[in-house]
Amino acid sequence: MSTYPRISAQLDDVESAREEGRRKMEWARQHMPIMEAVREDFEANQPLAGERIAMAMHVEAKTAILVEALAAGGAEVAVTGCNPLSTHDDVSAALDDVDNITSYAKRGVDDEGYYAAIEATIDLEPTITVDDGMDLVAAIHEDYPELIDGIVGGCEETTTGVHRLRAMADDGALEYPVFAVNDTPMKRLFDNVHGTGESSLASLAMTTNLSWAGKNVVVGGYGYCGKGVAKKASGQNANVIVTEVEPRRALEAHMEGYDVMPMAEAAEVGDVFITTTGNRDIIVEEHFEHMQDGVLLANAGHFDVEIDLDALDDLAVDRYEARDGVEAYEMADGRRLNVVAEGRLVNLAAPVSLGHPVEVMDQSFGVQAVAVRELLEREHADDYEPGVHDVPDELDREIAEIKLAAEDVDFDSLTDTQRDYMGSWDHGT
Ligand code: NAI
Repeated sequence: MSTYPRISAQLDDVESAREEGRRKMEWARQHMPIMEAVREDFEANQPLAGERIAMAMHVEAKTAILVEALAAGGAEVAVTGCNPLSTHDDVSAALDDVDNITSYAKRGVDDEGYYAAIEATIDLEPTITVDDGMDLVAAIHEDYPELIDGIVGGCEETTTGVHRLRAMADDGALEYPVFAVNDTPMKRLFDNVHGTGESSLASLAMTTNLSWAGKNVVVGGYGYCGKGVAKKASGQNANVIVTEVEPRRALEAHMEGYDVMPMAEAAEVGDVFITTTGNRDIIVEEHFEHMQDGVLLANAGHFDVEIDLDALDDLAVDRYEARDGVEAYEMADGRRLNVVAEGRLVNLAAPVSLGHPVEVMDQSFGVQAVAVRELLEREHADDYEPGVHDVPDELDREIAEIKLAAEDVDFDSLTDTQRDYMGSWDHGT
């Protein structure tokens, strides 16, 4: 049994933290029509009655609306962070005050506290897990295998988590079904692209008070997140340089009008570097050695392994906090390389970061909520063997339709003749 304290026991002035957290949640709620519809449905129909849900996510206002909706659907929920720097303690405290919710998330915990908080959520003996990065699934499989029989399934929010889960499934090690929420169109085409693009640039601009215009912005990786970062930086009049290892993505970036080159070349000309690969060692010693004085180094990928900070630290003769959220590493030749948010996801971990825009997370969490509901639809339960599963397309459409209705956007539907035509193979010229 974990003795790790809930957030309310960790804060000095818990009442005022709760009040501020509720204020942040109220603002988010006003801009989350999908989650409002889902919460009303969950409250009325109690699809999660009697379930126990453990969650490891970025605990800030939008996530709190999802957590509340799951509790409103009848579940008991224990939540913690999925990154030591992305938690908003006030929101965590406000959540901890809601019936059937316990929050262990605290900003700035060390590794030991981070994993102790994950274990505390597992103490709930969850029937469902909701992850952003797969830490809960990993901890349960490694340390609490006896709980697996009681787990109906899980949901995974991000690309890196889905990659890790697929690797686990390929090894035959994943012992319960998990939905790849990340891979749905309603999540990936909006959250990864627009969400990461907008919030990474906003966080960097707010943290540094510097302009994008005329800068060489190097985007590491041209996947969904990289496309968003590149597009938004270009929209701010930056000159975008893309690095890639996948030939079709490199070509796509080239045809989009961006400069494409190896990181070794980009290192010499970049002013700002933003990694979005989900891979490791994207910016390493050989690159640091050739960078200009004053560059900004930031990461928007899930883990803090894209920029080799150990190598940078070894090269540095001095290191100091240049601004809140910016650490300057001074080289022997006097150049200063500035790392933002300790190389952790810049849109969530810098002191001023707020994560993705609210509207975007309304969509992502709408999909999360209906995916959790789907795990419990008993007539489907047998469809989901242990492994990684796509979220059924009709659920993704359900979320899109709620959003379009909320935005008052009308759209066409297929006629019977069109549907028949699209489904046939014998209509020729
Ligand atoms: P993706 O798989 O679509 O894109 C990654 C791209 O990086 C691919 O095109 C791949 O070829 C490229 N890449 C891999 N190794 C490389 C290397 N050595 N050099 C250059 N390019 C390389 O993945 P997606 O959806 O764009 O996600 C990327 C990362 O961002 C993941 O870790 C994901 O979990 C995270 N993420 C972060 C968010 C945030 O809020 N900051 C939101 C959503 C995802």
